Amino acid sequence: MIYPIVKYGQEVLDKPAQPVTAFDAPLQKLIEDMFETMYAANGVGLAAPQIGLSLRLCVIDVSSGQDPNARLVLVNPEIIAREGEQLEEEGCLSLPDFRAKTPRPAVVTARALDAQGQPVEIKGEGLLARALCHEIDHLNGKLFISHLSRLKRDSIQRRVRKMMKAGQW
Ligand code: NI
Repeated sequence: MIYPIVKYGQEVLDKPAQPVTAFDAPLQKLIEDMFETMYAANGVGLAAPQIGLSLRLCVIDVSSGQDPNARLVLVNPEIIAREGEQLEEEGCLSLPDFRAKTPRPAVVTARALDAQGQPVEIKGEGLLARALCHEIDHLNGKLFISHLSRLKRDSIQRRVRKMMKAGQW
């Protein structure tokens, strides 16, 4: 099932999400639906708040569906190490058509549970490091624009408000 994606301005994107406690069949179905929703939207990551669910769950596939081994499920994740810096273009399915160079660590290590509740550690660089930071930010109620300069963030927010007023958001 493909979920509609919640856009910037909805409260669910602004608040910390709740931990996942049950690794049952409904969770497996939700994870499959999140991958389906992410691929349909041509995203490389999707967090549960983006489909309106305040849960600490996200999926990532930086291969955009090309490599089955690139499919990552992160339940209750946290970043445990950061190294270096990178500054690359980032976007978000909840802020369609807005992209900006966003400062992130070059290498990131995250600790999480997998779909079965087993502990996993994922180390990523480049796009994967950005995706890990971006999706885990979502679970803490943060969007990539919070890492931009005040000037750039204000400019994006102003354009979104304009689109909201025009009924285009
Ligand atoms: Ni996003």
